[in-house]
Amino acid sequence: METLETIARAGTPQGEVALRRRGDAIELIVNGVFAMDSREVTSEIALADAAPLGRVLVGGLGLGYTAARLLDRGTLHLDVVELAEPLIAWARAGVTEQLGRVASDQRVRLHAGDIADWIRSQPGPWDGILLDVDNGPSFLIHDHNERVYSAELLATFLARLAPGGVLLIWCEEPSPELLATLSRLVAEASEIIVPIEREGRRFDYALYRASV
Ligand SMILES: C[S@@+](CC[C@H](N)C(=O)[O-])C[C@H]1O[C@@H](n2cnc3c(N)ncnc32)[C@H](O)[C@@H]1O
Repeated sequence: METLETIARAGTPQGEVALRRRGDAIELIVNGVFAMDSREVTSEIALADAAPLGRVLVGGLGLGYTAARLLDRGTLHLDVVELAEPLIAWARAGVTEQLGRVASDQRVRLHAGDIADWIRSQPGPWDGILLDVDNGPSFLIHDHNERVYSAELLATFLARLAPGGVLLIWCEEPSPELLATLSRLVAEASEIIVPIEREGRRFDYALYRASV
């Protein structure tokens, strides 16, 4: 039988955040909900692989897979904005190897905050902005993240891109509404389906790409 051990756990104004070890995998719990584990990270890596290099902004540190992949690919500067402050502290303390690797890389700046607020005071520009803060507009872990997918905030993210820059958004299922919103904002918006298998079941995760 698999062992289950809580590695770190803390309350935040937005609910509990925890890291757990299940067998040989690490799990992230956000607001009391299973957010992800280290067993299946194909789509987190696909998100990084779809990004341009140069200066990149990532919304949502999570277990650090997207950030680590960007660093491995040669990103020059990486800003990561994370809502759950304890996760940043755990990354700096190296509570998991992956988070420690991201936090100790000289190219990385970790910022505590809600990306929806943080972005408004930041001029950028970034070559890539990657959002993986929630499941997508159809199934939210944090209700307040609804605004992240609104036309108003998407336009703000797009305005922070350098010419030729790319906005990428991770969703746990295809969202025709999100694609339609992006298509109204830019000439080039597209969907990338990332099929994955978990416990014998197939899921289609989706990435949305908008370039300026
Ligand atoms: C699914 S995880 C990201 C996974 C990450 N791509 C990886 O590779 O490990 C989502 C993260 O976004 C954070 N988050 C949720 N809402 C946020 C917001 N509004 N601003 C910044 N971070 C947020 C969560 O606390 C969580 O750490």
